[in-house]
Amino acid sequence: MINDLWYKNAVIYCLSVETFMDANGDGVGDFQGLMRRLDYLAGLGVTALWLMPFQRSPGRDDGYDVSDYYAVDPRYGTLGDFVEFTHAAKQRGLRVLIDLVVNHTSDQHPWFQSARQDPASPYRDWYVWSDKKPKNADKGMVFPGVQETTWTWDDKAGAFYFHRFYDFQPDLNTANPLVQAEILKIMGFWIQLGVSGFRMDAAPFVISAKGPDVGDEPALDYDMLRTFREFLQWRQGDAIVLCEANVLPDTDMDYFGDDGERMQMMFNFQVNQNLFYALASADTRPLAKALKATAKKSSTGQWGMFLRNHDELDLGRLADDQRQTVFQAFGPDPGMQLYDRGIRRRLAPMLEGGQRRLELAYSLLFTMPGTPVIRYGDEIGMGDDLSLPERNCARTPMQWSGEPQGGFTKSDKPVLPVIADGPYGFGHVNAAEQRRQPGSLLNWTERIIRMRKEVPEIGWGTFEVLRLRDPAVLAVRYAWRRNHVLCVHNLSHAPREVSIDVGLGDEDGRLLVNLLGDEHSRADERGRHTLLLEAYGYRWYRIGGLDYLLRRSEI
Ligand code: NOJ
Repeated sequence: MINDLWYKNAVIYCLSVETFMDANGDGVGDFQGLMRRLDYLAGLGVTALWLMPFQRSPGRDDGYDVSDYYAVDPRYGTLGDFVEFTHAAKQRGLRVLIDLVVNHTSDQHPWFQSARQDPASPYRDWYVWSDKKPKNADKGMVFPGVQETTWTWDDKAGAFYFHRFYDFQPDLNTANPLVQAEILKIMGFWIQLGVSGFRMDAAPFVISAKGPDVGDEPALDYDMLRTFREFLQWRQGDAIVLCEANVLPDTDMDYFGDDGERMQMMFNFQVNQNLFYALASADTRPLAKALKATAKKSSTGQWGMFLRNHDELDLGRLADDQRQTVFQAFGPDPGMQLYDRGIRRRLAPMLEGGQRRLELAYSLLFTMPGTPVIRYGDEIGMGDDLSLPERNCARTPMQWSGEPQGGFTKSDKPVLPVIADGPYGFGHVNAAEQRRQPGSLLNWTERIIRMRKEVPEIGWGTFEVLRLRDPAVLAVRYAWRRNHVLCVHNLSHAPREVSIDVGLGDEDGRLLVNLLGDEHSRADERGRHTLLLEAYGYRWYRIGGLDYLLRRSEI
């Protein structure tokens, strides 16, 4: 089924309504506040927003514990505000994706409350029960160190219930056709209210077999994904699902589906982890390998590429020594690490705030073959507050200005503390200030987004990692509709000179037109380009364009 492929060349901006902008002064961000900031987002150039969960919730896992799928949590506004928001976003050409958290509900959800009270409840079979404690109850925890088990005894139910995540997040029995029908109903509801799709939380667990007799490697019902896609496309042809699935490359095609019959998008965790290893070690070879391993996708499929998100930077798929290298470089203190596998810091402090290196990291992200997904606050280089528990350290309110509470709220009791002190305090790092400085990270981000949108080859095309002698430099060539682009990144803290054959034969590869600056490159007699890259330098070139430049005799 082929429909509008808008997501192939999108720039997605992830935000939490709760910590973005508070309009009514109660300390909690809300839809009215978000609406006031839509022009800022449109100006930044992003094309789609991904909202973290905002449905009614006790808020014990930042909204990933939903107690009513059909309501906006009153702290953020009303359903009316939501529809006003999707309308206002649409007017500015911004699409809206929302989180779809259907692997589990909150334990406060009326379905669970009913299910636990009575074995005859119509909702009993919506959850996963066991009379006895299953053998593998102390295995498979997603939050090791914080979560102790995946099966918890419930007195009222007189049974153990299964929870892949925290104990207040009972897993839905997603194999139950009634639960599947409800998931479609939830999608249909929000589609009707103006969204263009969903980020499917914990996708591998949604489709996984669940129950007391399921072993350590449960079977996955990939075809459930086809059901979701078909339903969405019947209802609204351009609606998509972006899967959160931190899986090995050999199952990628099971998620995309060979003919593009399953998920439209997946986050590329493989590239993400190797990208951080490359930044930490200045060795880009494992990243090149990860790019090759994930090159295959369906014709309508697309990768979501990202650096940091609202969770810890999960390094669980790296080799032990690689993980240690990243820990050493970016999160050496145990307090910076989380769940035995990741780093809970924001990007700017990891890279010690240096704009040049942040630009390099973002330039890399924007040139990864896929659709970039950035996170609120990263465009101004926001920091973290490691005194906050678990992942909350990187979820502090957006820093809009140098006013009290960073302009996020008029209340003196923000929902999470605004970062006030140190180099990342709102006095130094805020959007208003950076707007005024032409060279700021904010203005740089706006320019790079504009350029990324003008280089659709990256999102649409095929790519090849070019062979270079120097592992600190990554050169990737993209091709689409007979146009070619070359992006080169130096991950080393020292300058590098590289010699590159762009591999398109004499005529086509003779000229590299610099898209971000004035230094173009002409090949030598052997057809090679010698590029000098400063420390953490990056270049985007269009390959060819000789006539145009010769006419202007710039080179
Ligand atoms: C993944 C989400 O990104 C994370 O924040 C959440 O805690 C779990 N899924 C459970 O929903």
